[in-house]
Amino acid sequence: MAELKWGIMATGGIAQTFTKDLLTNPASRDVHDVKHKLVAVASSSSKDSATRFLSEVNAPDSVKTYGSYAELVADPDVEIVYVATPHSHHFQNTMLALEAGKHVLCEKAFTVTAAQARKLVDVAQAKKLFLMEAVWTRYFPLSIKIRELVQSGLVGPVYRVVADNSFGQDGPNGSLTFPDEHRMVNRELAGGALLDLGIYSLTWVFQILYHCQPEAVKEKPNTVAAMNKYTTGADEMTNIIVQFPKHKSMGIAMTGMRLPTDVDGQNTAGPAIKIQGPLGEIQVMGPAFKPLSYRVILKEKPGKMEVVDCPIPKDQDRDWGHGMFWEADECFKCIRNGKLESATLPWSESVTIMEVMDEALKQGGIEYPELITTDVYDPNSPLNTGRR
Ligand SMILES: NC(=O)c1ccc[n+]([C@@H]2O[C@H](COP(=O)([O-])OP(=O)(O)OC[C@H]3O[C@@H](n4cnc5c(N)ncnc54)[C@H](OP(=O)(O)O)[C@@H]3O)[C@@H](O)[C@H]2O)c1
Repeated sequence: MAELKWGIMATGGIAQTFTKDLLTNPASRDVHDVKHKLVAVASSSSKDSATRFLSEVNAPDSVKTYGSYAELVADPDVEIVYVATPHSHHFQNTMLALEAGKHVLCEKAFTVTAAQARKLVDVAQAKKLFLMEAVWTRYFPLSIKIRELVQSGLVGPVYRVVADNSFGQDGPNGSLTFPDEHRMVNRELAGGALLDLGIYSLTWVFQILYHCQPEAVKEKPNTVAAMNKYTTGADEMTNIIVQFPKHKSMGIAMTGMRLPTDVDGQNTAGPAIKIQGPLGEIQVMGPAFKPLSYRVILKEKPGKMEVVDCPIPKDQDRDWGHGMFWEADECFKCIRNGKLESATLPWSESVTIMEVMDEALKQGGIEYPELITTDVYDPNSPLNTGRR
């Protein structure tokens, strides 16, 4: 079986987590038709940083290290690039990789604007390259099962999805303690609750109310949003109503950085997601990005609740398993089957979600700088050439 050869772009927190998953044995998650190989890692800061990364993720010494993103995308051994930079950089960095003829798995939020997302899709299509937004939660067996339950009609037509993905800061009386330059609140890095956290609330709204609809009746939603701003001008709390008028359904997507979804971190506060139909309700326990259990409450079985746990399998040899390997497996299968996009998160759906976020940001009065919102590709943009 031909391995899928990965290049990792950036050496931050999520790049480490993803790469450790990539290095696990697929058999540990009962997957036997997939093989990944880590061939190179690049840091825009320095080659040393890429070398340090290798030891942090316990990767073989044979993996190549680069001190620039340009060198990574020029490596003929790299088949697919995992873009793990801040979302401010996603458009330029993904273009850099696509223009070099590489397939791309790009972290969420896909881009800063919907226009940028459309441009990436156009280029991937024209160059016949695979491109996917790395919304890992969609590939969890738990998500697959819940989509199946919804499509089976278990709770009837779903009329409402309520989803929250919020973090609480530990400052006194709920004050935010992020320094202004932190990527979560820094507008130069497309900071803000919506693009970073709210994407998961929208993921639940969309994977139920949009994705589960047959193609012929999918409808673009109406969006109503309210945002509170942090001192930097980024959104710190955002609530969005996503209305699908023909289906008479609504999603309520909540996110914020001042109050957590779950105050004690033990799910005592109840589910992060509620999927409601006339026959019952499916509740997903948070966090919304990494759910490990769900429960089903049916009208015909009052007082009875079925609880289903979906733990994430661990590679015992590496003592590791986070759940990002399933999206990597999807990339392998799509590429080896000659597909340019994933049916679980098609390009059109990533673009539609970006359009909802565009509209919400507009209604909330949030603006990001031209450098990170332009949809004109520039290989020499500072977003591509680094921050030494
Ligand atoms: N799927 C998930 O669960 C998940 C979780 C967290 C984050 N994310 C997404 O992943 C992306 C990265 O998040 P992260 O938490 O890994 O961030 P991070 O720890 O701050 O790492 C970002 C990396 O990007 C590179 N970078 C290039 N230019 C930069 C700049 N001007 N400022 C800061 N970093 C720069 C740096 O790597 P080099 O110096 O090596 O180039 C840095 O280490 C974001 O889009 C975020 O939304 C996804």
